Amino acid sequence: MSHFDHAAASYDMEFTHTRIGRHQRNRVWDYLDTIPKGLRILEINCGTGEDAGYLATKGHTVLATDVSESMLTQAKAKNKNANITFQKLDLRGPILDVPKTSFDLVFSNFGGLNCLSAKELQNCLQSLDRVLAPGGQMILVIMPKASLVEKGYRKWKGQSKHYTQRFMKEGLSVQVNGKPVQTYFYSPEEIQEAVPNYAVKSCIPTGFLPSYFEQSIDKHAWLFSVVFKIEGVISRSRLFSRFADHFLIHLQKT
Ligand SMILES: C[S@@+](CC[C@H](N)C(=O)[O-])C[C@H]1O[C@@H](n2cnc3c(N)ncnc32)[C@H](O)[C@@H]1O
Repeated sequence: MSHFDHAAASYDMEFTHTRIGRHQRNRVWDYLDTIPKGLRILEINCGTGEDAGYLATKGHTVLATDVSESMLTQAKAKNKNANITFQKLDLRGPILDVPKTSFDLVFSNFGGLNCLSAKELQNCLQSLDRVLAPGGQMILVIMPKASLVEKGYRKWKGQSKHYTQRFMKEGLSVQVNGKPVQTYFYSPEEIQEAVPNYAVKSCIPTGFLPSYFEQSIDKHAWLFSVVFKIEGVISRSRLFSRFADHFLIHLQKT
């Protein structure tokens, strides 16, 4: 039983189809639109398969994987495209039993890799390297340590310790649908250090507002339209990646 199973049935309603969820995913999809078509993609921590469906419509072949059976059930029900297959895969264990160089791209969206400790992350990324073709790429969307909005919000709430724990090696217990999930946060540099034989092609923020602000958008519509406008400007700069809610890092095997 995975600690995300209980979140699967409501995940799309509570994140994928929210304005903040959609806003951040659109940023990722805009980026995915810039990669060549027809790639063999291994998607890790695919959740309910929202991205697998998108990638398949763009002409890619996708093996979409997740540790949670319930997430995979949702993903299969949503996606009937013949270019997608699904498989259970725990990123803390051995990576797929497939021939070397089976994929052109490894894709991970929205913090699945934040469920791994630093050691697990390094093992995982290095094992993924084995299944990537020469010149293969990884596009990973990760939660950084230094989220600016989280810092301000926790300070305002008198919960600064919650924020500083993001910097701790042992991670932070985060509530996912009322159940604790141990979560580890990484800077862009830490991701690159985990795979030193990869070069960073790009690194961008995908959004600054955490999804828990969704409820407040209607009450303070004007404020959020200003925030989204500012976001639109600063999101163009790689410098802000480390301060975002999530950042996208694009790595290529050298
Ligand atoms: C926040 S969700 C993101 C889902 C999806 N990528 C998306 O963009 O909506 C995190 C996902 O990571 C998966 N996950 C967590 N730990 C994992 C592990 N050890 N191995 C594989 N998947 C894992 C969870 O089951 C969950 O589906």
